[in-house]
Amino acid sequence: MTDSQIDARHFRNVLGHFPTGVTVVTGLDSAGDPHGVTIGSFVSVSLDPPLVGFLPGTSSKSWQAIAESGSFCVNILAAGQDELCWKFAKEPAAGETSKFAGVDWTASETGSPILPGTTGWIDCAVEVVHEAGDHLFVVGRVHGMSHADDVDDAMVFFRGKVASVNMPTA
Ligand SMILES: Cc1cc2nc3c(=O)[nH]c(=O)nc-3n(C[C@H](O)[C@H](O)[C@H](O)COP(=O)(O)O)c2cc1C
Repeated sequence: MTDSQIDARHFRNVLGHFPTGVTVVTGLDSAGDPHGVTIGSFVSVSLDPPLVGFLPGTSSKSWQAIAESGSFCVNILAAGQDELCWKFAKEPAAGETSKFAGVDWTASETGSPILPGTTGWIDCAVEVVHEAGDHLFVVGRVHGMSHADDVDDAMVFFRGKVASVNMPTA
């Protein structure tokens, strides 16, 4: 089968049957303004050295802005953070210039936004960026990370919908 025989909608449908976690990758542009984009393609890459990665589309406006600073923070969404998931997966709301309007955040050591209520965050410096078709494979070196002890359930994206892991509490 050649590349051109793979229908784009079928590709999306089949890949939508692979459940992923959901993250919001955040960072600052060169003017110091915050940007963020919802990303499911986050992956652990290497323990020594500590590297993680994700794949933004080449047309991702937020990644183009974040890349200016050379740093980013991966915020791992908890179950129930649907609003953040969809907010950062769209253009800024009508009448707003930033997706961060009305969103609380604190700065990581590299300045990237840390969102509240997540299951954890990973603060990185860009190590290398590879071209991968219509996406980029961004590899980051981890400079700081933390997980929450009081968040019980994570967000999962499956067949176009957000759900939760439904972790048993006992
Ligand atoms: C659950 C979920 C996961 C997503 N994962 C990715 C991803 O890994 N890479 C990507 O380029 N877009 C991904 N998207 C789509 C982007 O969030 C969306 O295209 C966004 O509007 C891009 O915004 P930007 O142009 O501000 O960067 C995902 C969307 C959702 C809802």
